Formats: sequence, structure tokens, C-alpha cells
Amino acid sequence: MTKEVLELILHRDAVMTEDAMRKCYTEDEDLATLLNSERYSLFAGGKRIRPALTLEFCRLFGGEDEAALPFACAVEMIHTYSLIHDDLPCMDNDDLRRGKPTNHKVFGETMALLAGDSLLTGAFEIAASNQAAGAEISAMAVAYLAQNAGRYGMVGGQVIDLEGEHKKLTLDQLIKLHSMKTGALISAAAVMGALAAGVPLTDPRMRDVITYAENIGLAFQIVDDILDQTGDAEALGKNVGVDAEHHKNTFLTFYSVEQAQFYADRLTAEAVTALRKYPGSETLCAIAEWLAERKV
Ligand code: IPE
Ligand code: IPE
Ligand code: MG
Ligand code: MG
Ligand code: MG
Repeated sequence: MTKEVLELILHRDAVMTEDAMRKCYTEDEDLATLLNSERYSLFAGGKRIRPALTLEFCRLFGGEDEAALPFACAVEMIHTYSLIHDDLPCMDNDDLRRGKPTNHKVFGETMALLAGDSLLTGAFEIAASNQAAGAEISAMAVAYLAQNAGRYGMVGGQVIDLEGEHKKLTLDQLIKLHSMKTGALISAAAVMGALAAGVPLTDPRMRDVITYAENIGLAFQIVDDILDQTGDAEALGKNVGVDAEHHKNTFLTFYSVEQAQFYADRLTAEAVTALRKYPGSETLCAIAEWLAERKV
């Protein structure tokens, strides 16, 4: 698949997701600040990788977009909340995100905190109300999403990341941290897509979905660490060099840029191997490869 075709597919998935997320908002003048704060970050751009995974896994297993779309919105809303909170002064204290001043720089810390809370809650509302997937699948997806976003997933990973600023982690601890803070939500995106297509959690195909997702999830954060050192702030839409400033444990604490990239490429190859046998998996394989090579 050419890069141009992949970009077209990702663009189409992003537009679908954004249209559906926009429908979550009805105006209320008393809540204007909150709604504007949420939408400021939600519609600021972003690669929309997680919703693309949800939609593409649903298609891979013969499901309908309609059944995957609420789950795609939910994961992107949780991801956006995690970015708003990640940028707060009490966390990474960043002032640039998705090419714009961070949420708290525009709306203040209180509103940024509440916009994050509201996106998180709204995500579960849209996922649980997925009528196209049905009540049983929605309940499974919601539980999976909650597990992966919460204390043993993204939130737990953020804690290990922040506490790690004051100590040196082992490589195993770093892999655990990356898999939790970034991999877990990527896995939820993929699994919810397969669930939307009616693939049960116990189905052997789900093992391949998870192998793919765990590998690209870890690779994704390794590349994020590399880009923090070598990337271009304007292209990335976020500041660079901040990990070293905050004494973060990253892959570059252990490896050179070349070695870390080699590691990410190896994980990507494993992800591709898990899916290659499925007819129609070209898009997901191309996404994995694109993510490993990305500069944004
Ligand atoms: C950034 O995620 C935070 C990480 C988990 C590494 P993305 O690189 O997917 O950010 P957006 O959504 O494109 O802004
Ligand atoms: C992101 O990790 C993890 C999240 C759950 C948001 P980073 O702190 O490295 O993400 P960026 O580099 O600020 O996007
Ligand atoms: Mg962080
Ligand atoms: Mg950060
Ligand atoms: Mg980073």
C-alpha cells in the first residue's frame, strides 16, 4: 500500500470520527467555557491513530463502521483527556500541544482539569450507548476500555512515569511503564474494533489483535521518546527536549537513537507478522509501519 493511499484512509477515518464526536455537543450558554475547552483540544488535530485502529479492526473482521464508531470516539476522547492532564503543570508542564497552546494555557488549570474529566466521562457515555453494537458487546468494550485506561493501564503508567522522574528505572520497568501509559489505550482501541465486529474476547483471532496492538503500542512510545530528542517541534505540534528536562526515564536512557529505532522496527515486524495471514490486513500492516517511521 502506498503512503498516499494510507493517508487517504486515515483521513477518511479521522473525518468520520470527528463528525461523530461533534454530535456529542449541544450548546448550553452556561457551560460554554467547559464545552469550548473540551472542543479546543478534541478538534485541534492529532493523528487520530486510535480511532483508525478501532475502525480498521472492525472492518478486518467484517463488521460495520456504525458499530465501531462510538468506540472509536470513546478512545479518542480518553486519549485527548490524557493529553490535557499530561500537559498540566503538576504533570509534564507543557505549553504546546497539537500545534496550539495547551488547554490550561488558554482556559486555566481548573477548566483543563474539568474538561479532561468531562471527556473521560463522555467517552464512557458514548461507548455504553452503542446501539449498533448492542448491549452485550458494548458492556464488554466498556469494561475493556476502563481496565486499559485506569489504574492498571494508562493512569498507572502515568504514575510510574511521574514517580520515575526521581529515580532510575530498570529496562523492564520502563517497558512496563510504556506498555501501560501508551500501549494499553492502543490495545483497547484495537480490541474494541474487533469486538464491534462480533469477535469474542476468547476467540483465537483476539490473541493476534492483542499481539499486534501490544507491539505497536510499545513501538509507538519508543518512537515518541526518539522524536522528543530528534524531532521538530513545529511538525510534531509539541515541544521537544522535555523528557531530558524532566529527568524522564525513556528508551534513550538505555539505548542510542539507532538502537531504539531498531527496537521499534523489530516490534513493528512482530505486529505485522501477527496480522499478515488475514485477508484485508494491508491497511493495519501499513499503519504499523507508518507509525514506526513517523516524524509527527
Ligand atoms: C501522544 O500521542 C502521546 C502519547 C501517548 C505518546 P499521539 O502522538 O497519538 O498524539 P496525537 O493524538 O497525534 O496528538
Ligand atoms: C504520554 O506520554 C502518555 C499519556 C498517557 C498522555 P508523554 O508525556 O511522553 O506524551 P507527550 O510526549 O507529552 O505527547
Ligand atoms: Mg507524560
Ligand atoms: Mg508529556
Ligand atoms: Mg513524549
